Amino acid sequence: MFNPVSPQGLAISNVFILTLLIAAVIFALVAGLVIYIAVKYRGRPGAVDPEPNFGHTRLEMAWTAGPALILAVLLVLTIKAMGESDPAASDASARAANVASGQQASDQPDIVVIGHQWWWEVRYPGPGVVTANEIYLPTGKRMLVRVESADVNHDLWIPQLGRKMDMIAGQPNYITLEADVPGVYLGACSEYCGVEHGKMLIRAIAESPQAFQSWEQEQKVAAPAPPAGGNAAVGAQLFAQKTCISCHAINGTAANGRAGPDLSHLASRQTLASGVIPNTPKNLADWLKNPQIIKPGSYMPNLQLTDGEVQGLVAYLETLK
Ligand code: CUA
Repeated sequence: MFNPVSPQGLAISNVFILTLLIAAVIFALVAGLVIYIAVKYRGRPGAVDPEPNFGHTRLEMAWTAGPALILAVLLVLTIKAMGESDPAASDASARAANVASGQQASDQPDIVVIGHQWWWEVRYPGPGVVTANEIYLPTGKRMLVRVESADVNHDLWIPQLGRKMDMIAGQPNYITLEADVPGVYLGACSEYCGVEHGKMLIRAIAESPQAFQSWEQEQKVAAPAPPAGGNAAVGAQLFAQKTCISCHAINGTAANGRAGPDLSHLASRQTLASGVIPNTPKNLADWLKNPQIIKPGSYMPNLQLTDGEVQGLVAYLETLK
């Protein structure tokens, strides 16, 4: 919030800081007067009550007009910041109309983010890339983002990039996401959405346009064929036999479930369980062994896997770069 990396974030941050400064001045003024008066008119032996002041017209006009003026200035600046931090109205409504009328892929928003209990589906309709819990952005480009929900209401907020936006089932909303400085920007769900609301974290990863493009290319590639032997081969088989494939998709295999995150390039992601733990083989094993310890209430069930099965699945999933 104090460290914006986009024009949209800057517009909001400026209004926030100005409001904070005005509030600080008013607080100092009021607190200072209270202290001054309390000291000056404190009770002393033999003191008489000070004369109260009634009907001071000019003073009353000043303390009515002053706050009204401050609020009017803040209103104007807030409306201006709203305009700067929202996608252009024409842009969003034109695209929404396209969506309603069965549009061409090229008319789609750049990114679609879908809130689930308790993770984020991230789709790039143009290149056909699907990932989860991280939003890659090319630096310096305004990306139009459509936000949706698969279940209850969520809210996408990455403070350094700009405004938050509610994700409502059946009511797509639009925001722009832009990052002018490469980096990783943390965000979170900011609408209470159930028991694991607090563990619904997201990160925006801003890279140079070239790096973004090569990321996009890598994500489009189908998963490598499952290894012929070893632990990973066992894992690939388990993945198809256990219930994994009814919830997860792996591009290029029979797995095409949509209830859980797409795992096509799981090993290339920074975190597991929607930002809760770093994506390491050890953490992946712990997660598979019992997701309910790491994220109680998660819809990822405890499959009662043996240690050997966990090792096989980890070996297989680590090949999905
Ligand atoms: Cu999703 Cu709170």
